[in-house]
Amino acid sequence: MKFSLLVVFLIAVISGVTTLVANAENKDTSIGAAVFNAKGELVVPKDFQRWVFIGAPLTPNGLNNGQAAFPEFHHVYINSDAFAVYERTGIFPEGTVIAKELVLLQKGDHPDGSKNGISGRGYFAGELNGMDVMVKDSSRFEDTNGWGFFNFGHHAPPYEKTAPAAPKASCAGCHQANADKDMVFTDMYPILRE
Ligand code: HEC
Repeated sequence: MKFSLLVVFLIAVISGVTTLVANAENKDTSIGAAVFNAKGELVVPKDFQRWVFIGAPLTPNGLNNGQAAFPEFHHVYINSDAFAVYERTGIFPEGTVIAKELVLLQKGDHPDGSKNGISGRGYFAGELNGMDVMVKDSSRFEDTNGWGFFNFGHHAPPYEKTAPAAPKASCAGCHQANADKDMVFTDMYPILRE
């Protein structure tokens, strides 16, 4: 009898601790990665190029009638603290920031924009050309599935210093309808896939 009470007690303690750990992981594990000004605009992330690089989808202008919606390489980074939690739990914690920097191609030799490179014919990164960011903050962005979306300009750096949350129709709507997991296109990135 005493033994079974002890077992029940231990199970209760273990599940309590697990819940505490899970809750802690969902809090601001990444303080400093997303900085908002008094107007609630996001300040452009500074050191994102030192975060974890998750992948580089490519939509060349040469394959999109000369004007891809997001030209051309999309260099995508996630803040390191959030990535550590995602690796362990498969959950993007509150405070996750994902930055997508657009990069134009080097001038091509062929109509599809590809270039004869030393390593073979292909697509090679040229100049930086824009910045889009998404931030997970469920209390601020309740209306767009817990994520805010920000466009800091599609042009060469310097990018805009701050950006207001984009309207749902410009960004969140498409992610909500099509993304693989919690608003993120995880299947595009080998290290985020299940
Ligand atoms: C028409 C659909 C669509 C719209 C609109 C859209 N996106 Fe995306 N977004 C995607 C797709 C698909 C990917 C992943 C593949 C890629 O980059 O081509 C992506 C990737 C991203 C990523 C990298 C993380 C991820 O989920 O892969 C960020 C950050 C991002 N988009 C921000 C934005 C912002 C900010 C806007 C609005 C300015 C926006 N997106 C508008 C479809 C869309």
